[in-house]
Amino acid sequence: MVTSSPSKIVFDSADIAFQLKNGRKLVDDMSVAYILPSDSTEVERLRLNHDLWKMVLEGLFKSPLHESLKKGITVLDVGCGPGFWTKDMAILYPNSKFIGIDMADVFVREDLPPNAEFHIVNAANGLPFHDESFDFVFQRFLVMGFPTDKYIQSIKEIKRVLKTDGAIEILELVNDYIDPSPALAKISSWIDKALSARNMDSYIGDKISTFLQDAGFQDIRDIKYNVPIGWGGVAGELYLSIQQLALPAVGVMVTQLTSVKDEEYEETTKEALAGAKVFKSTTRFRLIYAKK
Ligand SMILES: C[S@@+](CC[C@H](N)C(=O)[O-])C[C@H]1O[C@@H](n2cnc3c(N)ncnc32)[C@H](O)[C@@H]1O
Repeated sequence: MVTSSPSKIVFDSADIAFQLKNGRKLVDDMSVAYILPSDSTEVERLRLNHDLWKMVLEGLFKSPLHESLKKGITVLDVGCGPGFWTKDMAILYPNSKFIGIDMADVFVREDLPPNAEFHIVNAANGLPFHDESFDFVFQRFLVMGFPTDKYIQSIKEIKRVLKTDGAIEILELVNDYIDPSPALAKISSWIDKALSARNMDSYIGDKISTFLQDAGFQDIRDIKYNVPIGWGGVAGELYLSIQQLALPAVGVMVTQLTSVKDEEYEETTKEALAGAKVFKSTTRFRLIYAKK
């Protein structure tokens, strides 16, 4: 069995304040746009979400890197959260080195293999790595983390830290439901309002391939995924249980940044979750990968 050591958590330049609000741990720092909780309930949601995406992708990534990863390359996971992807990749590819960065220390410590480490970094201030340090950079679900200018800056920073011929892969949720119930459509419009209040974009996922093109990336592939909420098989069932955790987490952001009240949000969430199966609603996602 592999062991973890505290030295694998590196505190870089980030010095971010957190506060407790309605029992959830939230960022309390104007330099960070993200206000989803950073606590054990959120870690559980991200664990289930990681399981869902392993199922949907039938693996951990889509870039054609299996052979290089087997031989040994250096990989960065931006906004890694607890680092389930980083850890699983490190176990799968012991000859490669993996660094996960996040502004919150919610990192998995149990059974962390020796080729994985985590750094606390506010990625909105750039990536604290030298030019051409990585062969592969992965970024997943930062739509509620980066305002549009920071998202574009992150793509440019990723290009800077990638080696020649290095690879980028981004998986993003689009805040846009197909066949939503009226309640789900309402939730989506509230999320859109909250994101706009922080200069974030519900539809950033639809724009990433253009951003990559503008930044000079090549061989861009853009794959669409529609994930059913509570219907259509095991993935749909799992996604419903993730939404049961996600909508309350997002509610913290909505009620803080819009005039929507807690009770109204809670009631609408209940209705939205009950209706998703009936309306056969799905969420849109995009996975984009390319080469420097
Ligand atoms: C929705 S979670 C996704 C986590 C992980 N990528 C995954 O797929 O499980 C978004 C993560 O981005 C992190 N984040 C948001 N803004 C950030 C910033 N400015 N710098 C670093 N991490 C950030 C949050 O702390 C959170 O862990």
